[in-house]
Amino acid sequence: MKGFLIKLTCLLLLLLVTAEKTESREPVLHRVGGGRFSWKPNVNFTDWAIHEQFFVGDWLYFGFNRQLYSVLQVNQTSYDNCIEQDFINNITKGGRDVFNLTRPKPYYFISGRGYCSKGGMKVAINVQEYISAPLPVTNGSFLNTVSSASEFPGKLYLFVLAAAFIIACVLL
Ligand SMILES: *[C@@H]1O[C@H](CO)[C@@H](O)[C@H](O)[C@H]1NC(C)=O
Ligand SMILES: *[C@@H]1O[C@H](CO)[C@@H](O)[C@H](O)[C@H]1NC(C)=O
Ligand SMILES: *[C@@H]1O[C@H](CO)[C@@H](O)[C@H](O)[C@H]1NC(C)=O
Ligand SMILES: *[C@@H]1O[C@H](CO)[C@@H](O)[C@H](O)[C@H]1NC(C)=O
Ligand SMILES: *[C@@H]1O[C@H](CO)[C@@H](O)[C@H](O)[C@H]1NC(C)=O
Repeated sequence: MKGFLIKLTCLLLLLLVTAEKTESREPVLHRVGGGRFSWKPNVNFTDWAIHEQFFVGDWLYFGFNRQLYSVLQVNQTSYDNCIEQDFINNITKGGRDVFNLTRPKPYYFISGRGYCSKGGMKVAINVQEYISAPLPVTNGSFLNTVSSASEFPGKLYLFVLAAAFIIACVLL
């Protein structure tokens, strides 16, 4: 009976750990430029972007006058040089347009009709993978060594924890 209870507790703890591992975050809608209608010239979008954190699953919102401006997803070269031709994606619809950030990578957007070079209407953002449990701050420990070698240190950490639980459960 006692052994059964220990095993049950173990299983419950294991469930908690795995639940934590898959815990996710509510998607955030980022209003580009900071306002409802701020995809327009002479806004410092670089300054806006460095104060935001973008994670996979989040959304961008572009609010703008579609008679004048547009939103084109481009690559880095076209972003740097304000090249409108051969864009990746035309996001422009009604002027209240959203874009799904589906992958952990940099995204680049410019406005068409010359407003990238004229009014600096361009924005670059870097999307990160969401990691639920941050690594504890350690110096020179085992975890620190693996984390520098791994792209997903948080996940690895949880994996190690889960593995430890499974082993403990089997042994008890
Ligand atoms: C925009 O903001 C960035 C970061 O704050 C700054 O480095 C840059 O000089 C600003 N650009 C302009 C044109 O003000
Ligand atoms: C957009 O992102 C959400 C998460 O915020 C995701 O569940 C959904 O599948 C994505 N939609 C498209 C069309 O990619
Ligand atoms: C970026 O896109 C332009 C236009 O399609 C293309 O000429 C260029 O080779 C691309 N650059 C990179 C680094 O992919
Ligand atoms: C992008 O789409 C909008 C809306 O359909 C259209 O008005 C605009 O001309 C397109 N821009 C380019 C560069 O194709
Ligand atoms: C970690 O190490 C760095 C330099 O080796 C030191 O500046 C920092 O204070 C240390 N952090 C902790 C939490 O010990």
